[in-house]
Amino acid sequence: MNKDFQANKAAYGRLFQAAEAVLPNAYAPFSHFQVGAALLTEEGKVFTGVNVENSSYGGTICAERTACVKALSEGYRNFEAIAIASSGGTAFPCGICRQFLYEFAPDLIVILGEDIGHLMKYTLKELLPEGFKL
Ligand code: THU
Repeated sequence: MNKDFQANKAAYGRLFQAAEAVLPNAYAPFSHFQVGAALLTEEGKVFTGVNVENSSYGGTICAERTACVKALSEGYRNFEAIAIASSGGTAFPCGICRQFLYEFAPDLIVILGEDIGHLMKYTLKELLPEGFKL
């Protein structure tokens, strides 16, 4: 945990709680692995998202992309941080979500962990070094 994390610990905790709060809305009848995400915009708005699975497995969308798409379609494009919670402990964003978020926010702060007492902070660039951008 660095200094910046300590300074913003309460805010990151609240964002993580917002991600946890939507876990019951996840539609995960196949994996039974519920994921919730909360994306904070630079304007201070929070968009949440859950994973939504599909009988045609490839049609599944992750919680992180759900949150991002919700924000984008409401006109928000500048993101500061995302928190990720799951029903199965610490959940790191998948490769597709890392690349998807990188398009809009390479410097995004990523908050995740087992529970609110054990949060970790990364930057998206740490999780996706040399991300692709046209
Ligand atoms: N999942 C997410 O929602 N986010 C991730 O970053 C990793 C995976 C979902 C997709 C699928 O519904 C379930 O977790 C199991 O892979």
